[in-house]
Amino acid sequence: MKITKAVYVASSVSAAGMPTPARRQFAFIGRSNVGKSSLINCLTGNSSLAHTSSKPGKTQCINHFLINGSWYLVDLPGYGYAKVSQARRASLKAMIDDYIDHSREMVLLFVLLDSRHDLMKIDQDFLISLGEKGVPFAILLTKCDKLGTNALASRIATLKKELGQWWEPLPEIFATSAENGLGREAVLDYIERINRDLDQNEKQ
Ligand code: GTP
Ligand code: MG
Repeated sequence: MKITKAVYVASSVSAAGMPTPARRQFAFIGRSNVGKSSLINCLTGNSSLAHTSSKPGKTQCINHFLINGSWYLVDLPGYGYAKVSQARRASLKAMIDDYIDHSREMVLLFVLLDSRHDLMKIDQDFLISLGEKGVPFAILLTKCDKLGTNALASRIATLKKELGQWWEPLPEIFATSAENGLGREAVLDYIERINRDLDQNEKQ
């Protein structure tokens, strides 16, 4: 699939404040600094669409980007950033939970994990909570340009073992890099496939 148009539409702080009309949404979540906003820029081919920073805690709202005039990519704030007040952390968590629990148009949540680290407790807990809620998700390993081929293959194998303790079948896993575009086509094709299936179901 080709993204021919990507437009920033709105920032909101709750599912109730999201743009209308409602359209399908593919949302990006993960620890602060894992590379959510950068990957959205990579997928859309627009390096200044979502705001990025080398410092964690950059994205503070639910940001909607309208793709090809038809569906949304949604950039969410990160979770687990320690260097903010407890109250701020709680309000960001509430914003994320509200989006996940009440955004009826969310088709899929992309959960981003840094390819350089083993599965962290906070990510594990988050994934388990998605399983309990029955939220559909896929995993995007980020910053894969920082790993060699063998290290990446080994990370993916280990991740499958880690996830295999909870999931059967395993969720989809994509190796990505916003730096060199790894995984871009695969992720866009995956979204396209889901959109096509949903279109067909709606026609029936
Ligand atoms: P928050 O909005 O704070 O939750 O962070 P985020 O997950 O949106 O991360 P962001 O996209 O702002 O990127 C964080 C840092 O990681 C930036 O310095 C990016 O340049 C860097 N980064 C993101 N993706 C990649 C990647 O694929 N490869 C490399 N080498 N660096 C990356
Ligand atoms: Mg961000």
